[in-house]
Amino acid sequence: MTSGMELRRVSVIVPTYNEAGRIWRKLENIYLQKYPRELLEIVVVDSASTDGTVEIVKKWGESRRDVSLKVVEESVRRGKGPALNAALKVASGEIVVITDADALWRDGALRRAVSYFSDGSVGAVSCVKLPARSGVAGVESGYREFYNLVRVGESKAFATPVFHGEFAAFRRDLLEKLGGFDTEVGADDSYTAVRLASMGYRALVVDDVVCVEEVPVGGEYHSWRIRRAQHLIQSFAKGLRHVWKMDRRFKPVFLANAFMHLVNPWLLWVGASLAVVGAFLGSWISAALVAAGAALMFVKAYRSWVFAQFYLSVAAVRNLWNKELVWKKQNK
Ligand code: GDD
Ligand code: MN
Repeated sequence: MTSGMELRRVSVIVPTYNEAGRIWRKLENIYLQKYPRELLEIVVVDSASTDGTVEIVKKWGESRRDVSLKVVEESVRRGKGPALNAALKVASGEIVVITDADALWRDGALRRAVSYFSDGSVGAVSCVKLPARSGVAGVESGYREFYNLVRVGESKAFATPVFHGEFAAFRRDLLEKLGGFDTEVGADDSYTAVRLASMGYRALVVDDVVCVEEVPVGGEYHSWRIRRAQHLIQSFAKGLRHVWKMDRRFKPVFLANAFMHLVNPWLLWVGASLAVVGAFLGSWISAALVAAGAALMFVKAYRSWVFAQFYLSVAAVRNLWNKELVWKKQNK
């Protein structure tokens, strides 16, 4: 994979809103990737943080003078999408990598991700994710173990519709063609992958690019999952409008995922309610189904799935009045 690879100019964009506690470590993590520093540019776009994030970024820049650092300061917070578009205007790399302040890359992630772009049909590359914590009742690690496999599999077939903001790399000319990130969809990363795959470019989640992400604790975990589910639902709902002209290699994967995110959660509740009603009416089969469904909650993979359906349902309803495009930071 690494032999004979072409290195390209890369702009790494880090959007920040009140990340004073993490941004130094984050910038060091990017800097210490073994990528030629003359080909690397870091763009931090901050949206009116009140905790001194920008001062720390500037201080870091003074301590590491052999890498180019650009700081974009927005005077008002409009959300991550608009901030990314502001950063794109100053990014000069051929490849643009978006990365969250609270995620760390494993060694070699940048090099390996860039090497995939030697294939001209690849438009975007994202990471697999390791949760730094296993989440409430192991639900986060169960969810990740399953979905990392799904995303890598979809990518081998052609492209995946779900990208990760912890590491999301795009060809800059394609982003320009799209007019930047869509600011109406919270999942800027996934929706951009959907648009590129619809146009016939491969959008890959690869298992040799690994990120470790922080996971909120306690009740904040649930609100975090619901907000992310809201953003994914927005991406799948808006993606439906591309279906009629979607690349045929991507269409079945997109539709299966749209079904699983938009329809499936409701089928679970309908099925479960019918089983409970049936059990009350004296059906032994229904009673056995309810008992089996409850017993399976002890199995981590199943429990993670049921929680995911719950988050998706709450998220769909919540999207009706609040799209969470500017969100409250969860404690991690
Ligand atoms: N400039 C800027 N402006 N940055 C922001 C803003 C904003 O208004 N809001 C959030 N950010 C930054 C955060 O500082 C962080 O670096 C990154 O965007 C992600 O925000 P988190 O608060 O850490 O959210 P998350 O961990 O749940 O993020 C995940 O889900 C989002 C969609 O729900 C990631 O995958 C994100 O990339 C994704 O957009
Ligand atoms: Mn995060």
